[in-house]
Amino acid sequence: MATERTLSIIKPDAVAKNAIGDIIARFEKAGLKVVAAKMVHLSEEKAGGFYAEHKERPFFKDLVGFMTSGPVVVQVLEGEGAIAKNRDLMGATNPKEAAPGTIRADFAETIDANAVHGSDSPESAEREISYFFGNDEICPR
Ligand code: PPS
Repeated sequence: MATERTLSIIKPDAVAKNAIGDIIARFEKAGLKVVAAKMVHLSEEKAGGFYAEHKERPFFKDLVGFMTSGPVVVQVLEGEGAIAKNRDLMGATNPKEAAPGTIRADFAETIDANAVHGSDSPESAEREISYFFGNDEICPR
C-alpha cells in the first residue's frame, strides 16, 4: 500500500474535553505520523470555505457554527493507506453508529459534534491539506 497524507481535524468538542493527546496517541499507535500540526480558532469564512461543498445542505450553518465555537487542532497525518486508516480509526460520521473502540464512539455523542474530521479521498486530502498548510509547514520524517 502506498504512503499517503491525509488531513485530520480534532474538532472543538474534543479539544474542550482535553482529548487532544488521547486522539493523537491513537493515530500514532496505528502507525500514522503527524507531519504538520497547528491549533487554530477558525473564522466563519475559513470554516465555510473548508465545508463549501456542503453549503446547500440543511446542517451547513450549524456545522460552521460548531466548527467556529472553539479552537481546533489541524494535522497532516502520513503513513501507508493513511486516508482509509484514519477513517477507520474515526468511525462512522454519526457516533451512535460508530464501531466500539473508534474515536467517535469513545469521544462523541452526536452527529453535529463528532470529535474529528478526516479527508475522504486522495483528492480531498490534497485540497484540504493545502487549505491549511503551506509546503514549508509540512515536515516529512
Ligand atoms: S461524510 O463523512 O463527509 O460522508 O459525512 P456527511 O454526512 O457528508 O457530512 C459532511 C460533514 O457534515 C457533518 N454533518 C453534520 N453537521 C451538523 N449537523 C448534522 N446533522 C450533520 N450531518 C453531517 C459531518 O460531521 C461531516 O463533517 P466532517 O468534518 O467532514 O466529518
